[in-house]
Amino acid sequence: MIASEPARKRDGFTTSLGVMAATLGSAVGLGNIWKFPYLTGMNGGAAFIIIYLLCTLLVGLPVMITELIIGRTARADAVTSLQKLAPGTPWWLIGAAGVLSAFLILGFYTEVAGWVFAYIFKAARGMLSSTQPLVTSKVFGNMVSNPVECLVWQWIVLAFISVIIIAGVSKGIERMTKRLMPLLFALLLIVCVRSLTLPGAARGLTFLFKPDFSKVTGTTILTAMGLSFFKLSVGMGTMTTYGSYFREEQNIPATATKVMLADVLVSILAGLAIFPAVYAFGFEPDAGPKLLFITIPAVFTSMPFGQVFMVLFFILAAIAATGAMLSLLEVPVAFLNERLGWSRSISTILTAISLALVGSTAALSNSTLAEFKIMGKTMFDLFDFLSSNVLLPLGGLFLCLFIGWQFGFKNTVASATNHGALHNEAIVTLFFWIVRLVTPISVLIVLLNGLGIIA
Ligand code: PHE
Repeated sequence: MIASEPARKRDGFTTSLGVMAATLGSAVGLGNIWKFPYLTGMNGGAAFIIIYLLCTLLVGLPVMITELIIGRTARADAVTSLQKLAPGTPWWLIGAAGVLSAFLILGFYTEVAGWVFAYIFKAARGMLSSTQPLVTSKVFGNMVSNPVECLVWQWIVLAFISVIIIAGVSKGIERMTKRLMPLLFALLLIVCVRSLTLPGAARGLTFLFKPDFSKVTGTTILTAMGLSFFKLSVGMGTMTTYGSYFREEQNIPATATKVMLADVLVSILAGLAIFPAVYAFGFEPDAGPKLLFITIPAVFTSMPFGQVFMVLFFILAAIAATGAMLSLLEVPVAFLNERLGWSRSISTILTAISLALVGSTAALSNSTLAEFKIMGKTMFDLFDFLSSNVLLPLGGLFLCLFIGWQFGFKNTVASATNHGALHNEAIVTLFFWIVRLVTPISVLIVLLNGLGIIA
């Protein structure tokens, strides 16, 4: 049996609340506030949400528990963890692919986050105060087609998260997310109440809760599954890395379940904040990735005190994005720091500089590099597509195979029950069989079907 290594002087999360805040801070992000609403809007509402929830239960949550177990048992970065648990085998390649995914995701994520940060100021200055999507669309168009503005905001975001990461795991990530997460919930509730009390809000509720499966295709299912990976930050080493900072007595299955439930709640709340208002003012929900930046400002302007709510809304989106980006950046930083022995500051600064380079291709996707396409996609779309719909599912698939077929039942039970202390053997046994069979088979079928390889 592989015993957990005693917590060395290694930095880590210090309290149970800190573990929750950081892990939930990673899960909650632009995925809830930007992706979930626009994908739901484009894919027919309730039917998409139901498929997404199923994927979260059968795939997202099991992979999350898997990664936390791997991280906490090995107490190392995403690559080294797998090497420690299976020396001399190629399993570490999953971790290496994870570091690559972190780069791709951050490449476009820092750009969207940059727009969100910029929008706080634009909203406050009244630049977005128009009820006409044509006007707000101009403001958005001017911003994304301005290469300097895009790059500068992306760098501001990178510098901001780098400073927190350099401060460390407990003093940076944990402290920051502990303060920001309650604020995020409070702001979200305020905007929700505003949206739900508008006359005509009911149509938005119908859209969110009344399923129509006629729009569902194999691609829809892959999109929903990709979202469930992206949402819970799994399939690429973030949860392995965070698991390595978990306290020895933390109940992994329970923590993961709570994070999953809270994350779903935030997505639903974001849906409740957005769709009732969208319908109340006669807008359409299917604007795609621009929903947040074009439709939402017009919606807010249409309501009393709209400008105040708009500023609050973009602040909450920025907070959400920050917790998620910290966890993404931590993956390569932990790897460079622990593996190559570079200091945390140097690792962070070098990662941020490389990210500025990789990310600039996404940032310039609507201006200088608009015509530069691979597989018919701009770099922005390509990074998004490759990470959510290919790399995360593949990473998740192999992580499940690792736990189910290499790490094995005994080690899994020992780790997830805290060596028997938690008395949760039954649930862990169920979990083990799900990750050994159900999750990998489901991921494989959805992946092959969604990519058009099998019909
Ligand atoms: N879960 C984050 C969100 O929803 C994104 C993320 C993906 C973070 C992968 C870390 C790793 O925004």
